Amino acid sequence: MSFDFDTVIPRLGTGCIKYDRRPELDPFWVADMDFGSAPVILESLHERVDHGIFGYAQPHAGLNEAVIDYLRERRQATVTLDQVVHLGGLVPALSLAARAFCKPGDAVMTCTPVYPPFIGVHHDAHVSLIAVDHVAVDGAWTFDWAALENAVTPETKVFLLCNPQNPLGRVFTAAEITRLAEFCQTHDLVLVSDEIHCDLIFDEVSTPHFSALNLPTALAARSITLLAPSKTWNIAGLGYAFAVIPDDSLRRKFCAARGHTLCEINALAYYAAEAAYRQGEPWRNELVTYLKGNRDCLVEFIQTRCPILKVAAGEATYLAWIDARGMGVENPALHFEKKAGLFLSDGAYFGWPGWIRFNFGCPRERMLEGLEKIAAAL
Ligand SMILES: Cc1ncc(COP(=O)(O)O)c(C=O)c1O
Repeated sequence: MSFDFDTVIPRLGTGCIKYDRRPELDPFWVADMDFGSAPVILESLHERVDHGIFGYAQPHAGLNEAVIDYLRERRQATVTLDQVVHLGGLVPALSLAARAFCKPGDAVMTCTPVYPPFIGVHHDAHVSLIAVDHVAVDGAWTFDWAALENAVTPETKVFLLCNPQNPLGRVFTAAEITRLAEFCQTHDLVLVSDEIHCDLIFDEVSTPHFSALNLPTALAARSITLLAPSKTWNIAGLGYAFAVIPDDSLRRKFCAARGHTLCEINALAYYAAEAAYRQGEPWRNELVTYLKGNRDCLVEFIQTRCPILKVAAGEATYLAWIDARGMGVENPALHFEKKAGLFLSDGAYFGWPGWIRFNFGCPRERMLEGLEKIAAAL
């Protein structure tokens, strides 16, 4: 490996949510990795900082080109710049979609378990939420097509999709995404596809990412694809994401819903994003290999040392979704907090109490320390 993913860098007291929200606990919760940023990103940021002026920023030509090239080369999508909406984060886009396409009395639909804002943004739009559980078929998490058909209503206007799925770690197939888009077409739903984890797939040959941008034109026309370099290159604190909305009228409605609610994107974020997309591939490749090693190590540890817990090897993301219902406690995350001083994500926030999410985006030694604490507490 030419990049260092093993050194443990102390983060406590650096103003980071992960460590400083509950400084007394050992954190394996929020989706933020403990690795230093890719050297190319640091260089680009240093250069921008050295300029010394940080007035209002706009996307510079290099960033725009990097985004379009990324979409062509990594997502196999030909996109024009006017179809791209730059954003300071991806969660605001989930909320914007609910506000843009629903009126009071309407509903947003999604599948659970899922990243908590998916089951929260409907409040911003004063609409209701229809949540349908994912199901395991032949050992793989997928959609419950019959339950979706039963649950959808004429008032449902938006479907929020997470692909790759956080927390399940599933990379949905072209057939699944196409079927979901057809479901959206049948029921006249806007398909909002959050693909923030799509560059963190462990095996892109056996589980390739099928973006909503790869759908046939008529289906892609009702889609909003949300992407960002923030998870992959661990620059979420800088705040940059973008939406690709091929259809003009959909894009206009989405942009109009912004009103004055979003702040300007910060000057450093654009430069970090450009460096990530343009020069970050060697670092990303090694990162994914390292994370795959962590995933395998975690699954083996849980299976051999903590058999009361159940975990499957995810296909993407550095997040393990662990079934802790066998422990027979109401809130396993709280249990591990009290018994082991750990800060884990409580499955209840994802819609599934009794489960926990463990973030293995950290040096292996640190991950194993956390797992040892889980084993000791059990
Ligand atoms: C599926 C998903 N979407 C969005 C986000 C956050 O995006 P942002 O920080 O750009 O708002 C996360 C962070 O964990 C995530 O897992």
